[in-house]
Amino acid sequence: MSTHCTSTTEEQRIATGEAHGKAILFGEHAVVYGAPALALPLPELTCRATVRPVTGPGSGGSRLRMVAPGAHGTPRETAGDVPEELALLLLAFAERAGLKTPPALEIHLDSRIPPSRGLGSSAANARALVRALDALCGTGLAEQEAFDLVQVAERSAHSRASGIDALATGSERPVLLADGRARTPSVGAGFHVVVADSGSGGSTREAVGMLRDAFARDPDLRTRFIHRSTGFARAALDDLAAGRLPSLGRRLTDCHRMLAGLGLTTDGTDALARTALDAGALGAKMSGGGLGGCVVALATSAAHAESVSTALAGRTGARTWTAAVPEGAGHDGR
Ligand code: PMV
Repeated sequence: MSTHCTSTTEEQRIATGEAHGKAILFGEHAVVYGAPALALPLPELTCRATVRPVTGPGSGGSRLRMVAPGAHGTPRETAGDVPEELALLLLAFAERAGLKTPPALEIHLDSRIPPSRGLGSSAANARALVRALDALCGTGLAEQEAFDLVQVAERSAHSRASGIDALATGSERPVLLADGRARTPSVGAGFHVVVADSGSGGSTREAVGMLRDAFARDPDLRTRFIHRSTGFARAALDDLAAGRLPSLGRRLTDCHRMLAGLGLTTDGTDALARTALDAGALGAKMSGGGLGGCVVALATSAAHAESVSTALAGRTGARTWTAAVPEGAGHDGR
């Protein structure tokens, strides 16, 4: 299929795409080895891509202007060449769209997702850009094609990317990735989560590499980890479907301990998890790659989430966000 990405009509020369942050409830790291993982969208943490073709002589390659939270959450603007992971995405998109070369674009990414906090910032950037490109070129990408393009960027950024971030940053509902398939799990009783930022970033690539090395030294450790993580995820899905929130919360806390045992938590995330429990959360755990980043805590209602969030912010100074997960039937696909 051949597609034209430039147009003489001014309105058609700009397109936007959106995505959002995510938090992993169960299964981080184990999902890289094929175990199930469950993630939630964080709609408050938006990411918007705007693309505009640059035409004419000397237009050169694409340029990126990015606004994203810097230290202490204040927006920070950077501008420059497109980073490698997004350049690869543009190349793959051009191939899919039947273009001889990637379009030269001015790309603007406006993200509220703090980077390197396990909240899916890189996948959301890629997802928002794919949607903007799709809108600009009228490619009509199927969901699987959009996912594959996001994964081009994710694999470049993180080496082994399971796909859970690529899925959850584009989904309105919780996402279960299991047996290579994405599904919407059944939620028997709505609940809320509080996400708190330890204030220090963790490198997903480094965390994944650390476990890979540990598993190479001790293959039994890998087997035990995958077994335990799968157990947590499967039991959590049952709790979720049955609306057993206290049990779901206990599993979160147990899962935090397991991940701490692998060296993935820090003093900061351990302290946040403890404080969330002291503040009355039903459970709390680190979320995402670890070695810093965020903690996710479980609450029953908006008021409960607000009180946990206020206590966490007040006692630790952490930035917090909340998200509601409404009751809903599960189904295949998303
Ligand atoms: O990008 P993060 O920090 O949310 O980590 C993603 C979860 C991992 O399981 C650590 C990696 C992956 O690709 O699934």
